[in-house]
Amino acid sequence: MVEPLRMMTQAEREKAAEEAGYNTFLLRSEDVYIDLLTDSGTSAMSDRQWAGLMLGDEAYAGSRNFYHLEASMREVYGYKELIPTHQGRAAEHMLSQLLIKDGDVIPGNMYFTTTRLHQELAGGTFVDVIIDEAHDPESLHPFKGNVDLAKFQAVIDEYGADRVPYVCIATAVNMCGGQPISLENLRAVSELAHQHGILVVHDMTRCAENALLIKEREDGCAEKTVRDITREICDLTDAATMSSKKDHLVNIGGFLAVNDPELADKARNMVVVYEGLHTYGGMAGRDMEALAIGIQECVEFDHIKSRVGQVEYLGEKLQEGGIPIVQPIGTHGVFLDAKKFLPHLDQDQFPAQALAAEIYVDSGVRSMERGNVSAGRDPKTGGNRRPPLELVRLTIPRRVYTQAHMDVVAESVKAVYDARAAARGLRMVYEPKYLRFFQARFEPL
Ligand SMILES: Cc1ncc(COP(=O)(O)O)c(C=O)c1O
Repeated sequence: MVEPLRMMTQAEREKAAEEAGYNTFLLRSEDVYIDLLTDSGTSAMSDRQWAGLMLGDEAYAGSRNFYHLEASMREVYGYKELIPTHQGRAAEHMLSQLLIKDGDVIPGNMYFTTTRLHQELAGGTFVDVIIDEAHDPESLHPFKGNVDLAKFQAVIDEYGADRVPYVCIATAVNMCGGQPISLENLRAVSELAHQHGILVVHDMTRCAENALLIKEREDGCAEKTVRDITREICDLTDAATMSSKKDHLVNIGGFLAVNDPELADKARNMVVVYEGLHTYGGMAGRDMEALAIGIQECVEFDHIKSRVGQVEYLGEKLQEGGIPIVQPIGTHGVFLDAKKFLPHLDQDQFPAQALAAEIYVDSGVRSMERGNVSAGRDPKTGGNRRPPLELVRLTIPRRVYTQAHMDVVAESVKAVYDARAAARGLRMVYEPKYLRFFQARFEPL
């Protein structure tokens, strides 16, 4: 199947950007030429997945596709119990409500937008325990997703283990550039957490991509398969939230997976309130079938190598052009360092938001902000959080674009870079209460 792409004039794109309040989330997709907004739900499904859609068993209860999904999840990841959800944040919602009490703290290897919000809505406070290198775009540390064990220990010492219901560990940490955690570090985190009776919850959205980088970068792992490394990661954790819209190559879907049958029982009680029956959790039978197949496909070496390889291809092109990007190149996108790109803008002028809009106007390439807008406001001070990383994410959908598309993207980013001195900052004129980056509107200064 092919999809026609429309190329508009620069004047038309300027108008579209203005109408969208300089927020790439508010553009119409038909006004976009190459869409690197996100890798979430944007993958092309395989022939086998499309065939799977035809096998949808749309019974209200006990669909055969659910049992296939459950078996596929258990076979690859090894978690004992599966609670299906319509996407990742629904699993985060249920888990946060079930495990977090008012006043609890949840350490994690960098925040993720929806994950942290659900922790806060449940009465918890997120504490960042990732290594310092993760906040430095130029650090070449091979595992910038690693936890700083001293920081984790300090959280336990300060608050006491009974106020830490779990440590939240993301694989291929999104907010610092798709950076992996090593098996060695995860083993140590798991040991420390379990010594104190603290659960390890895995945000496994891009686990297979992390596993590939472990294979390539971690001593003693070169001979292991991506599938075996993926399993090893999961075996070190107690529960997982999954947005299947990424690794699993489907357009919608997700799940909560846990090992504790009591927790599973509580989650099944919740899923019927918020999602649907515990054997479909907001998905159609056909969606569950495509997902069951995607779980198997995502740990195939040829697929994951070419997927992450395409990200590397774009990253290297940009580096050749002297563009400042987060290093090392990560798993699912190339992240531009907007502070370096537009050094004349203060962070409260939203340089990454402005840069994403500039790239769109130049070429119709849609990217997204991952900086001061995404970080939101500090609940205590009310001010913008001004995170160390002010990034634009060029996120690559899986199995969709060719290297020729990547060349167009690199040329456009270079053109914007050459004209960077003229770029203006933005003023936020509409700010939603939650997850403001999705719907906020801006005007040029
Ligand atoms: C690391 C990570 N965790 C959780 C989520 C939330 O998943 P969903 O968008 O399916 O609700 C995402 C989605 O972008 C993600 O990237």
